[in-house]
Amino acid sequence: MVDKEKDEMVVTPWEVKGKVDYERLIKEFGTQPITEELLQKIAKHTDKLHLQLRRQLFFSHRDLDVLLNLYDKGIKFVLYTGRGPSGPVHIGHLIPWIFTKHLQEKFKTRIYFQMTDDEKFLVEDELKLEQTRKFGRENALDLIALGFEPEDTFIIFDVEDIDLLYDISLEVAKRITYSTAKATFGFQDSTNIGWIFWPAIQAVPCFIHAKLTGENVPALIPAAIDQDPYWRVTRDIAQKLGYYKPAQIHCRLLPGLGGGGKMSSSEPETTIFTTDKSEAVKRKIWNAFTGGKETAAEQKKIGAEPNICTIFQYYYFLFEERDEKLSEREKKCRNGEILCGECKMDLAERVNGFLAEHQKRREKARNIVEKFHIKR
Ligand code: TYM
Repeated sequence: MVDKEKDEMVVTPWEVKGKVDYERLIKEFGTQPITEELLQKIAKHTDKLHLQLRRQLFFSHRDLDVLLNLYDKGIKFVLYTGRGPSGPVHIGHLIPWIFTKHLQEKFKTRIYFQMTDDEKFLVEDELKLEQTRKFGRENALDLIALGFEPEDTFIIFDVEDIDLLYDISLEVAKRITYSTAKATFGFQDSTNIGWIFWPAIQAVPCFIHAKLTGENVPALIPAAIDQDPYWRVTRDIAQKLGYYKPAQIHCRLLPGLGGGGKMSSSEPETTIFTTDKSEAVKRKIWNAFTGGKETAAEQKKIGAEPNICTIFQYYYFLFEERDEKLSEREKKCRNGEILCGECKMDLAERVNGFLAEHQKRREKARNIVEKFHIKR
């Protein structure tokens, strides 16, 4: 029997539930699919297409074509992305950040990174402000560990840097009505008023480059599709404030190890945090939902289903860069030539190898985090 409640799709910046239907999101959110033509246009600037484009992990956009046309005419852009520091970073968060790094290298642009310690304080009942601020500093280490450079990476810690954001946030807030905000974000009578104002703050880094440098250029935002509602309201008011509409490129959500929805910090046993120890990684992967059969004998006979397997998704998203090896694994799985235990053990080894390196770089970042802090 289909569990309707579990299956029903919900995708908002604060909640993702059920099986995510990306085609439907394109329609409902009113975004554009990434076409073959657009991929070619991107490849003109990046040589090879990045894995995340090749595998359609980034699948949707707003005005990326417009942004690239402007770029061809000599109008640069800045990158903007962020993190809501409600706990440790998990490997799902790294997906858009890795892609942002790639874009930064290829287009030689600045990146603004917003650490929304204010948002998470307002939204998460149980979190204190000092906790979200602390997580903000910790989460910045994960960003830096991916290899960003301080010269062109500017991290905004909202609470500390509010003086930089406040004037533009007021300009934004004045032009968004409560009825638009309510329809876009689903606010209720019980929603606290800080949260209701808050989307104006997430809009600011789209425009901050002009304030800091006097150079009015568009922003491109790589992020998962869950953040899209923010950009809808921001795009509506951008031109009224004399700025370009920010462009977006949206990625899919890495599922949790339990299957369905997204990897989410609120379910730690099905989430791999970047700070996890190797034993925890092994345990979580071992208990993951797969597309396997009840018994090994049955699986060997009729094969398994990589299309519904979370383990396979991890190879697909991040842990098997070689396309031919990925299809080989898929084929073997379907034919029953490989069992889930083997796939899980292999994945655990790869994830642990990746995390061991990441954790080293993360610790090194502690000494340099201030260099990335946005300057006045
Ligand atoms: P947050 O902390 O929820 O998520 C940080 C980034 O990770 C993406 N993401 C995922 N990507 C792939 N798989 C997943 N399972 C997954 N879960 C989350 C999110 O889309 C996001 O890109 N309000 C924001 C912070 C923010 C921001 C921004 C994000 C401020 N300005 C600009 C993106 C762009 C937040 O709470 O993100």
